[in-house]
Amino acid sequence: MCGIVGIVGTKPVADRLVDALRRLEYRGYDSAGVATIHDGVMDRRRAEGKLFNLEKRLESDPLPGTTGIAHTRWATHGVPNETNAHPHFVEGVAVVHNGIIENFSELREELKAEGKVFVSQTDTEVVAHLLANYVREGLDPRAAMLKMLNRVTGAYALAVMFQNDPGTLMAARSGPPLAVGYGKGEMFLGSDAIALAPFTNEITYLVDGDCAIVTHDGVTILDFNGKEVSRPRQISQATAYVVDKGNHRHFMEKEIYEQPEVISHALSHYVDFASHRVRPDISSIDFGSVSGLAISACGTAYLAGLVGKYWFERYARLPVEIDVASEFRYREMPLSPSQAALFISQSGETADTLASLRYCKDNGLKIGAVVNVKESTIARESDAVFPILAGPEIGVASTKAFTCQLAVLASLAIGAGVARGTVSAKDEEDLVRHLVEMPRIMANVLNIIQPQMESLSREISKFKDVLYLGRGTSFPLAMEGALKLKEISYIHAEGYAAGELKHGPIALIDENMPVIVIAPHDRFFDKTVSNMQEVAARGGRIIFITDELGAAASTLPTMATITLPVVDEIIAPIIFSLPIQLLAYHTAVFMGTDVDQPRNLAKSVTVE
Ligand code: F6R
Repeated sequence: MCGIVGIVGTKPVADRLVDALRRLEYRGYDSAGVATIHDGVMDRRRAEGKLFNLEKRLESDPLPGTTGIAHTRWATHGVPNETNAHPHFVEGVAVVHNGIIENFSELREELKAEGKVFVSQTDTEVVAHLLANYVREGLDPRAAMLKMLNRVTGAYALAVMFQNDPGTLMAARSGPPLAVGYGKGEMFLGSDAIALAPFTNEITYLVDGDCAIVTHDGVTILDFNGKEVSRPRQISQATAYVVDKGNHRHFMEKEIYEQPEVISHALSHYVDFASHRVRPDISSIDFGSVSGLAISACGTAYLAGLVGKYWFERYARLPVEIDVASEFRYREMPLSPSQAALFISQSGETADTLASLRYCKDNGLKIGAVVNVKESTIARESDAVFPILAGPEIGVASTKAFTCQLAVLASLAIGAGVARGTVSAKDEEDLVRHLVEMPRIMANVLNIIQPQMESLSREISKFKDVLYLGRGTSFPLAMEGALKLKEISYIHAEGYAAGELKHGPIALIDENMPVIVIAPHDRFFDKTVSNMQEVAARGGRIIFITDELGAAASTLPTMATITLPVVDEIIAPIIFSLPIQLLAYHTAVFMGTDVDQPRNLAKSVTVE
């Protein structure tokens, strides 16, 4: 989840490397560093914390040089301090790395036994030591690189600079993404096309097992045995445009408020706003004939998939097997080529999701990707791509990507129901009509509830623990509410199926743990109200997120009742996402946390 950039340039590179790092900061912000070669000597600047600190360092102590590499870090091995920041230097070799070298402790012991001294706690430093050893043995950079790649195991993207070869950068990919960019007399390396967008839109994505030798004249790509391979050169659609916050305090706030617009845009891709039909060409997966659907994803994307499961099962009568990708990939689940699989990922780069995808592909399933980044690895390796069209999501806590994922999954589930004959033409028209009405309702709800959510957040910030409950599609929403609150406010929160309350969590109920109940007036409402009674009977404080019918139907005392308009079940999870997002956002703002870049997190998780 770190970000890597490199330039073999004709003019100074330090500022441009930092500019590219800024576009990659979503991948990690524990520390950053840049190294260049100038007058035949390698030098570097590194700084703990956000990129801003590195920029200050470079201002007071600039780094000349026309070849360089740079890195923004999300710590895996070793605390986030300057010593552990990349690039790592060993005797004329500089390395930046994204991923994990799995056999690093074995290699480290071996190198220590040879008398090598390690200055950092990172796994990356073994790579620099191995390369320095091989160069000392007389190997040229290319041979040293290939030998090193045959010693290390794990998931990695690497960029390497050799002091004795200042016009060349070496790179390798085995897992996390890496792209080569083509300029005029200059060449680039980057973790993604967005990093390279200001320099070039002509790129080649490396695939696993590629080693790239990048010079001013172009790139040569080898497999790890040294055999030359050819990879397509393509035009990237990534834009050099840097998104800004507009009038908002945080990207998260902006992204919450742009949801009506982006959902409308996403929906227009999947449904016809005039005829209220699902677009017939939305899927190259034949949902009509598949025997089942496997869904896998991580975090918020997984919770979107869990809502999707309810929809696919209810509307398309399609059995859905769903799991978090880190479990899915190792469960050795029996799968059949008659099934299809859907992978949901905002970034399209999440390591566990990608591994699950490859597992399904190996089992012969047709693969669909619900992604925001259309050029991502997950999209590229899928048979069918379902873009969520949310636009760049910068806030680390996912908001608009979640609701756009839901909008796409709802459209696909209706489409699957039509294809399977379980959704009639009349039902299709009704369901799509509700989807089409949704952006307007969202804009209205955001306006109405904002002041109440802001004042409620002051109350919530006084507590250490919060419990969220919901039934049906409100159950994944309860988990999403808890996830959002904990990741940005650092308040401990759990989301439970309301019916599970009495099987354990009820023991926690007292006046110190507010219970947020998400309960539209749907088929499950009365049952959820019974669970609320159980909370009230034990002195628990209830925050009731419901609709006008639900608010009128319940007489239980609450700490607060948030009343939304009555909406159809198909759009309720999207509408009810809004109060939980705003509650988490305002609580975090009130508590003064780093809302857009919460501690320990990264936007794109390319390690296991
Ligand atoms: C939470 C959040 C994460 C991501 C998860 C998967 O707000 O954003 O839980 O949903 O890391 O990321 P993607 O969707 O990029 O695969």
